[in-house]
Amino acid sequence: MKPVELAKNVYWVGAIDWLTRDFHGYSTNRGTTYNAFLIIDEKVTLIDTVKREYYGELMHHISTIIDPAKIDYLVVNHVEMDHSGSIADVIEAIQPEKVICSKMGHKALLQHYHREDWPYHIVASNEELSLGEKTLSFLETRMLHWPDSMFTYLKEDEILFTSDAFGEHLATSERFDDEVNQDVLMHEATKYYANILTLYSPLIRKLLVKVKEMNLPIKMLAPDHGVVWRSNPGKIIEAYTSWSANEGNGKAVIIYDTMWKSTRKMAEKVAEGLQEEGVSYKFLDLQVNHRSDVMTDVLEASAVVLGCPTLNNGMLPRMAGFLMYMRGLRPTNKIGACFGSYGWSGEAVKLMNEALKEMKFTLCHEGLRVPYVPREEALAECVDLGRTVATSMRDFMDGKEVVSVI
Ligand code: FEO
Repeated sequence: MKPVELAKNVYWVGAIDWLTRDFHGYSTNRGTTYNAFLIIDEKVTLIDTVKREYYGELMHHISTIIDPAKIDYLVVNHVEMDHSGSIADVIEAIQPEKVICSKMGHKALLQHYHREDWPYHIVASNEELSLGEKTLSFLETRMLHWPDSMFTYLKEDEILFTSDAFGEHLATSERFDDEVNQDVLMHEATKYYANILTLYSPLIRKLLVKVKEMNLPIKMLAPDHGVVWRSNPGKIIEAYTSWSANEGNGKAVIIYDTMWKSTRKMAEKVAEGLQEEGVSYKFLDLQVNHRSDVMTDVLEASAVVLGCPTLNNGMLPRMAGFLMYMRGLRPTNKIGACFGSYGWSGEAVKLMNEALKEMKFTLCHEGLRVPYVPREEALAECVDLGRTVATSMRDFMDGKEVVSVI
């Protein structure tokens, strides 16, 4: 891969990671990129670095444009190690005049690399820094998604470097949004939001308002992962507006695990009830679907129906693990219901109900438990549960009051 010019004297010089398949528990089936950007001006500036093992690739890309030792400023938009893992080696090689970061970025750099001697230059929101012909300004985006996260704006070229925001885990040889398959791009952007940013939706709503108020002309959004949005930055901003507002898509997801296929039979009947009411659904068995793919469907769903049998007074481990993961990401504003088969104690449904209540889902059913293998009457109750979910979801989406039954 060669460097790619975004605008005159502004280059992508990052690295493509075709190999990674796991990002702390999130399945990255299409790999990822670690984007870094080089600005050539009186003060040569590098924005962000890359994961440690890609140091050579970053330096090679820079070297094809300029001697890395000529870099004056290094901007650190985010300290997570997929972007800063190579920073100690980079600083050693280029000896920058300034390492530019937010106050929280400074703290995080010290906590990661323990180097008091680096030439830190702390910037705050709206502060400007001249590079010569070009000007940078900064916007702290605390907790999006780390305390140190920051955006950097390149005024003359109207490029907003957005760190993790607006990114995707997508390894491609193409660098721009208009060069890749749009369905793949939006799927990966959805998965990224669902698995990294759902928790921060209230802050994202505020940030989007703030950026709008700042009235920054934006020609390109340049995140640290995936493609640069040059043709249609509005597309990803609109998607973030919708996701952060928890707008449901009118569809349901049935997420289940099963021991001897009784809970699966119940799940099939719940699906039948949804279908009878004309509701689209997705049938997600946790034995074959990765938690991060399930979470991607949860993000946009209007109803989440969980099924799990009881094991050792609790849930099957895959459901327990999934719920731990989903609770951490805190999706909200959805209809919920639970069901499951059991032998003698039957706690799983209660535990799943509690998890959904904690996430402030509106529970439309008290939960359906069936001993061992469901009879015809029990299967009919599962169909009814599916219908109840469908009608509650429609009322909910129509703005009618739907009260949680437990
Ligand atoms: Fe891509 Fe928060 O690191």
